[in-house]
Amino acid sequence: MRKPIIVGNWKMNKTCKETVEFINAIEPVLHDAADYGVGAPFTALKDATATAKNLIIAAENCHFEDNGAFTGEVSVPMLEELNVKYCIIGHSERRTMFGDTDETVNKKAKRLVKADITPIVCIGETEAQYDAGLTEKVIRDQLTGSLADMCPNCVKDIVIAYEPIWAIGTGKSASKDDAQNCCAIVRDQVRKMYGDDAAEGVRVQYGGSVKPENIKEYMACEDIDGALIGGASLKVDSFTAIIDATK
Ligand code: G3P
Repeated sequence: MRKPIIVGNWKMNKTCKETVEFINAIEPVLHDAADYGVGAPFTALKDATATAKNLIIAAENCHFEDNGAFTGEVSVPMLEELNVKYCIIGHSERRTMFGDTDETVNKKAKRLVKADITPIVCIGETEAQYDAGLTEKVIRDQLTGSLADMCPNCVKDIVIAYEPIWAIGTGKSASKDDAQNCCAIVRDQVRKMYGDDAAEGVRVQYGGSVKPENIKEYMACEDIDGALIGGASLKVDSFTAIIDATK
């Protein structure tokens, strides 16, 4: 039985003060039906982990090297020191704007797992790839690269977020059938690469215009174990409504 996991991805939003206020407002509404978390900017992580009791605090990126001449980057040991337990990697915004590739995502995933920080590995096709009928190939190729050479036991415990790029921040969410189908492909690819235990253990999220009104229909799908949520995770009201809807 996989426990669902719902994570807000705040992207470049929220100061330390806003982060602490948000966490204090959300903690009382959390319940056991799922794991809940937020991905916060690097600057807010220390305050976030010090404030959160049950809310998971995730970083939104990391570097795969431990130190060195990488101006502006943050390493996994730096996240460990802040008590961060999850880290989003390979988000499409990082892939398109900051040069992340399947190869660097793979290095980050391996380094995180070594530090006992759970990677949330993001994948998903562009609108052009969707229109060209390439979605399945893109999903399988991205997973082949991003999850290469990992141990099956590690893969069982990671999170994979399937986020079709055309659904991110557009209000145009994937239909539940499309989302289920793609998350099933994700699981099948994990099975091909790492076997049954990894495939049955790995938690697969859908992301892309998830909101209080549609979260339930995604969560009812067999292969969808949660959601990665952008816009609707920024306000206490809408994130609370999502938490309530997943009781
Ligand atoms: O990582 C979550 C995100 O990219 C989806 O954003 O605003 O469509 O929920 P949004």
